[in-house]
Amino acid sequence: MSEKLWDGRFSETTEKCVEAFTSSIDIDKRLYAYDIEGSIAHCKMLARVSIITEDEASLIIQGLGKIKREIERGEFHFEDSLEDIHMHIETRLVQEAGKAAQKLHTARSRNDQVALDVRMFLRVETIDIIKNLTELRKVIVEFAKKHSDIVLPGYTHLQRAQPVLLAHHFMAYYEMFSRDVERFQSCLKRINVMPLGSAALAGTTYPIDREYTAELLNFPEISLNSIDAVADRDFILEFLSAASICMVHFSRISEELIIWSSSEFGFVELSDSFSTGSSIMPQKKNPDVCELVRGKTGRVFGDLISALTMMKSLPLAYNRDMQEDKEPMFNSVDLLKSCIEIYVRMLPNIAVNKERMESAVSSGFLNATDLADYLAGLGMPFRQAHACVGKAVGYALEKGCELHELTLKELNKFASIIKNDVFDFLTVEQVVGRRLSLGGTAPANVNQAIKKAGEELADGETGKRENGERD
Ligand code: ARG
Repeated sequence: MSEKLWDGRFSETTEKCVEAFTSSIDIDKRLYAYDIEGSIAHCKMLARVSIITEDEASLIIQGLGKIKREIERGEFHFEDSLEDIHMHIETRLVQEAGKAAQKLHTARSRNDQVALDVRMFLRVETIDIIKNLTELRKVIVEFAKKHSDIVLPGYTHLQRAQPVLLAHHFMAYYEMFSRDVERFQSCLKRINVMPLGSAALAGTTYPIDREYTAELLNFPEISLNSIDAVADRDFILEFLSAASICMVHFSRISEELIIWSSSEFGFVELSDSFSTGSSIMPQKKNPDVCELVRGKTGRVFGDLISALTMMKSLPLAYNRDMQEDKEPMFNSVDLLKSCIEIYVRMLPNIAVNKERMESAVSSGFLNATDLADYLAGLGMPFRQAHACVGKAVGYALEKGCELHELTLKELNKFASIIKNDVFDFLTVEQVVGRRLSLGGTAPANVNQAIKKAGEELADGETGKRENGERD
């Protein structure tokens, strides 16, 4: 068993079960690179303000480099008695750099150290997620472009409602994922704050230079209240809520693809490489990947709820409960990233069944609103027009046909002002093409939206919206 860094005042050794219970090393060893980078910056700062000498600093930095290599090569020994990644690295550093290493923790506490590590980790991952989501936005725009001439029923209550362009439907997801990007971007601003120098909770008596540490670690901002800096994890909660909302979007698109790929709908076919078979029914091709994305959504919500619950009653400042912040954070980062990757690869390989979509548009009175609009256009108040068309629908239902399959004579029974031009008015092309209101499904609008998205995405590495700019 290694000697503990904190047991000076203890006369009894820690119970094994307590060591196992309090240890977080299995989880937080993932932070090792950030812990080392943070320690190097802290060490350089200590030397700069002459709290340690340059020689001591170089011994520490060399030692930390060696430890990093040991961890990366799998040569580093982890054990529960050393609790967490911070203790492991510091203990090993003392073996390497002796007395100098013992000075590294001057003006620092594990409380501000762990806050720093978590922020550094989440900063990198959030930037990565933003990039990956933007890749997905590109794939969605490509998909919309490729299928720009396909019409399918738009649904409300999962009942056929009005025809829409498939491209319009997918561009709806483009909007959702673009807002997700904005949320992560906004969250990043609050993640990107440097807490080191807050020490245990009250700051430190040493003449430290926090600006210098922040500069070394590339933080644009420094925390302004030492208690807050070690006590809060709202940036994790924010990340998890942005991740949860993003997963809602993934879950909904998954649900649609699952329904659309059923024989009943037959709108799409997922490629074999993104489907699985059944161990008993040889004919089956299952959308398991989409189902798992939908299923994993619940785990991300769970992460948000466990982090919120963990934080909600904690008195200021640091409490050990907060060690439980890492598992939900890591889990959600991993899950979200895997879902984005799956979708970036799966979407381009989805086969769309144009005929099935278009034949679904041709029945179910999808042009009923348009007939009412036609009457309203001739001066009939919309409510009255709605009632007339309702009756006509009832009549057509009985007859087993669509509105545009009725004769003019039949239509005139419900409204005498209807003329022969109504049949042109009710074609799918006209019905879709007339929805020119801003954000509507008319091809002219949708092509414009696709073009705008293309420009947005071409604008810089990750797209304009991530910088919070919108025109
Ligand atoms: N492993 C701890 C955590 O993740 C580090 C901070 C420990 N601080 C303390 N005062 N025990 O939260």
